[in-house]
Amino acid sequence: MPAISQLRSTLSRHYDLAPNIALADSMQDIYAKMRRVVSPADWAIYAPYVKAINDLKASKNAVVLGHNYMTPEIYHGVSDFVGDSLQLAMKATEVEADIIVQGGVHFMAETSKILSPEKIVLIPDMEAGCSLASSITADGIAQMRAKYPGAPVVSYVNTTAEVKAASDICCTSSNALQIVEALEADTVIMTPDQFLAQNVANQSRKNVVFWPGSCIVHELYTAEDLRAYRDADPQVKIIAHPECTPAVVAEADYTGSTSGIINWIHTNQPRKAMLVTECSMASNIADELPEVEFAKPCNMCPYMKKISLENILYVLHTLDNQVEVAPDIAARARLSVQRMIDLSRQLGL
Ligand code: 13P
Ligand code: SF4
Repeated sequence: MPAISQLRSTLSRHYDLAPNIALADSMQDIYAKMRRVVSPADWAIYAPYVKAINDLKASKNAVVLGHNYMTPEIYHGVSDFVGDSLQLAMKATEVEADIIVQGGVHFMAETSKILSPEKIVLIPDMEAGCSLASSITADGIAQMRAKYPGAPVVSYVNTTAEVKAASDICCTSSNALQIVEALEADTVIMTPDQFLAQNVANQSRKNVVFWPGSCIVHELYTAEDLRAYRDADPQVKIIAHPECTPAVVAEADYTGSTSGIINWIHTNQPRKAMLVTECSMASNIADELPEVEFAKPCNMCPYMKKISLENILYVLHTLDNQVEVAPDIAARARLSVQRMIDLSRQLGL
């Protein structure tokens, strides 16, 4: 990826990206989905990028798969499909496009490539990592296998292809408990998220042993903070992601994947909700749910926030930042991911 100044000079030679009020006005259907959280002035800045990306997608037969943590202008403006990790992985097996642009972090793009090796998969910023994915290598999986001989390894999709290849099956936050329960063994190794594993263990009779990784976004929340928040406003509904600590999950009214959280809010329409997860989640659903007040604080994922309209446009224009996975690793990783997808479909998840 070139320096930002070079990136901008390349884009400015091919596209008119100056703020454009007339263009923004002509794209009110898209703006209506983010009016509550994006100012008209910002929309005039985003609109030329959104138009250029959507035109390029059509001419290159490309799709953008947008994770629920993308900012509203990406989530509503240019994503063809949005969802949690499991939904995006399933979508990668179904889309007929030649090019997938991953609106998300690197492990998600690798998962798309593993499942669709014939497609070009682009990640707008190669530095869009994940603290969980970087917390373990295949050697860590080998250490766990040596410590717990015979126990199957369930690895969260927030891992590198190499780690998936060394595992028996993957899971996401929306199917972790069901995957662990479906395995025949009494002892199950879960990597790399210690808190997801402990939250699963609290709902399972199995002996769940785990790797000590954590998400730098979700580990910041504390049960004390949430209790103080609820004391100040007893009506607030606290909705947490299972990457939070078990103490935080115990304070929550509901715990689920990012899409599970969105569905819960849609179904229950609380007067006030605190989403104990990444900041963009509340912004993305604010306009669909005008009656719901979203309480802060939230925490930002610095990796997800590396993805911007500007770098999406750049990689679509240049086809830079293609994600590749060595064929032997991809073949073994595909088994772990496909086992998870097959089991999830079987269980109707
Ligand atoms: P979901 O699978 O719930 O979307 O979570 C992905 C993630 O990275 C959460 O931090
Ligand atoms: Fe990884 Fe946490 Fe960011 Fe999700 S929010 S991508 S788990 S660092």
